[in-house]
Amino acid sequence: MTGRPNRRKFLGAALTGAGIVGAGTLSVSWLVTGGTTLGSELTSTARLPEPFGQALAIPGVLAPTRSDATTDYYAITQQVADVQILPGYSTRIWGYNGTFPGPTLQSSSARRTVVTHRNHLPVPVVVHLHGGHVPYDSDGFPTDYLLPAQWASAHTSHDAAGQVMRGQRDYDYPVGQPAATLWYHDHRMDFTGASVWKGLAGFHLINDDAERALNLPSGARDIPLMLTDRAFAADGALIYPGIDPSMTSTPGVTAEFTQGVLGDVILVNGVPWPTHRVTTARYRLRWLNASNARVYRLRIESKAAAAEYFTQIGSDGGLLAHPQVLTAIDIAPGERFDTILDFTECALGDLVTIHNDLGTGRTGEIMRFIIADRSADTSHVPDTLADIELHDPKTAVRTRHFDFRRGDMGDMRGWLINGLPFDAQRPAADPRLGDLEIWRFSTDFNHPVHVHLNQFQVLSRNRRPPRPSDAGWKDTVNLAAREVAEVAVKFTDYPGRFVMHCHTLEHEDMAMMATFATR
Ligand code: C2O
Ligand code: CU
Repeated sequence: MTGRPNRRKFLGAALTGAGIVGAGTLSVSWLVTGGTTLGSELTSTARLPEPFGQALAIPGVLAPTRSDATTDYYAITQQVADVQILPGYSTRIWGYNGTFPGPTLQSSSARRTVVTHRNHLPVPVVVHLHGGHVPYDSDGFPTDYLLPAQWASAHTSHDAAGQVMRGQRDYDYPVGQPAATLWYHDHRMDFTGASVWKGLAGFHLINDDAERALNLPSGARDIPLMLTDRAFAADGALIYPGIDPSMTSTPGVTAEFTQGVLGDVILVNGVPWPTHRVTTARYRLRWLNASNARVYRLRIESKAAAAEYFTQIGSDGGLLAHPQVLTAIDIAPGERFDTILDFTECALGDLVTIHNDLGTGRTGEIMRFIIADRSADTSHVPDTLADIELHDPKTAVRTRHFDFRRGDMGDMRGWLINGLPFDAQRPAADPRLGDLEIWRFSTDFNHPVHVHLNQFQVLSRNRRPPRPSDAGWKDTVNLAAREVAEVAVKFTDYPGRFVMHCHTLEHEDMAMMATFATR
């Protein structure tokens, strides 16, 4: 069976020299500004560029290999590549089609999407469509491996519980999900943090007619922005404190990093602290935090008042019912904020800078826009964006409680849910499709809680109304230390085995994940 041998091995690894977690004392350095970022920061030894000197890159949109009456087919090869991230250095990554971020997929809600992934990497992979409403066998359960073609079978004998394939694998995404900013990333058992760090992440945008009819900013004025932090060695290589750099046998990170790995270089779409040239128009900026552990607080600095705040139009699962103004956005790993930034009142040459108020020094900077040209703008941000049916908690059939905290497991300590490490075999919950349930999450430290299969609605935080930033369809809710949130979730359409977990990837890899089985 899976889970156990693996898990014991992992917990053993995580325990190595883990005095800081074993002693039961909490190091204050875990809690960075505001108590919303956990982790230890790596220090780059490569020469780092000054912020705002590089041009923003926008990942290319992948063309289908073929289309028929109902379906668009895509092919992605996961491969090693050498790319330039820091000026003057070559950096080896693992990329979808050899790029970081991977190519952007754009699906129409009305058409089925099939993506064939080929694994040319030296290790098994798992592809998860984060936020996707998809059947279990395409969701990327952590032991549903896609092995490299040449992988020795002995290495996965203990993972027989997964649906293992070799060489290539089709991920089948049905029609029907409303317009949303989704993303795909690696979800391999025990090694998600290391794999995503190497570059296995990309956008998957869903479009539909209802959204198109709104006339939101589009084309070159609709920009997905993937936030990640990384650190670089003197030769330009990515640094990650994994115990086993080959990522084949021993999971886990060195003891100092078990609370989360932070980099000292902020990348937007794989570019360090970029600048993007814009016109005097409204732009749709789709923020995604694809970082392993870093939480950002986005704040805008601008001379023009209209460009001093974000107008949020969507969250994880799609459009909000109504736009709302946010002067700052806290965005945790896994979360998306779909926003409008209005440059119409800016003057030529104006600089609009996005800061990270949870960072310090260079990690306090994200990116910059420069107003490079004048243009007309016929886009529109209507007062009503979408018709969102609110879940009525009075109709919930049960409440389940999931407590996320560090804890003992025998003589060891790990990141646990309800005191238990991940178990691929034994579901922690068995919700019935179509039932409304209330899930209550509680925490010891910062944990962004992510649920697969269906988005949920946040009902309360700490027994008070949710925050404005909790609005809409969420699949990841960021909880600070000692917070409690209640969410209403209704799973639909697909029976099978899914996971929920902390999206701080080092916590996820260190057992803070649970299986649930829909029926
Ligand atoms: Cu973004 Cu289970 O993952
Ligand atoms: Cu966590």
